[in-house]
Amino acid sequence: MYGLVNRALQEFICKHHGDASWQAIKAAAGVDVEFFVRMESYPDDITYRLVGAACASLNIEAAALLRDFGRHWVLFTGQEGYGSLLDGAGSSLQEILANLDDLHVRVGLMYPALKPPSFSCSDVRDDGLTLHYFSERPGLAPMVVGLIEGLGERFGKILTIRQSGDRNAGADHDSFDIRIA
Ligand code: HEM
Repeated sequence: MYGLVNRALQEFICKHHGDASWQAIKAAAGVDVEFFVRMESYPDDITYRLVGAACASLNIEAAALLRDFGRHWVLFTGQEGYGSLLDGAGSSLQEILANLDDLHVRVGLMYPALKPPSFSCSDVRDDGLTLHYFSERPGLAPMVVGLIEGLGERFGKILTIRQSGDRNAGADHDSFDIRIA
């Protein structure tokens, strides 16, 4: 994945656990990269190894870490100059979730080697919807829960999210029932 993701992970770990922790996690992951360059594409394996080492070192379940990281990603991209992309993608949670593929198409104009996920929405109502998530990458559904929560916070909404389809349980994609309070 692009260095932007690894930098967000670095910022997230440093913010909550300090720089020394991040350096130890990188060493334990066997990642010999001093600075991640935002616009450089790195093997996915690096990101997965960093997440694995962070979980072991901080004694956190991968699902919990990925969920918190998803929430952080919404804040991080907002601060890193992509807030207008998020704003332009929709003025309600339903709208932005429907426009996630367009959003990543725009991101792909800046990051040409992007391998984005894909999303679609069904059962869209005033008080909720179902979000369908498709990706080449395994194991990132908990991050999507955090991303949805982060978007909810952006719109000042309290959400209840239930994973209704799970690739780990044999479904062909992950899906999430979202209720908006
Ligand atoms: C302006 C804000 C955003 C930017 C700049 C952005 C950019 C990116 C980038 C660079 C990647 C790594 C993919 C690669 O390097 O091949 C990525 C992955 C991903 N993005 Fe976004 N993104 C944004 C917002 C969102 C939002 C709001 C969601 C909400 C669901 C989302 C869902 C994901 C997921 C789940 C992945 C993991 C990759 C995968 O599932 O295959 N992104 N995004």
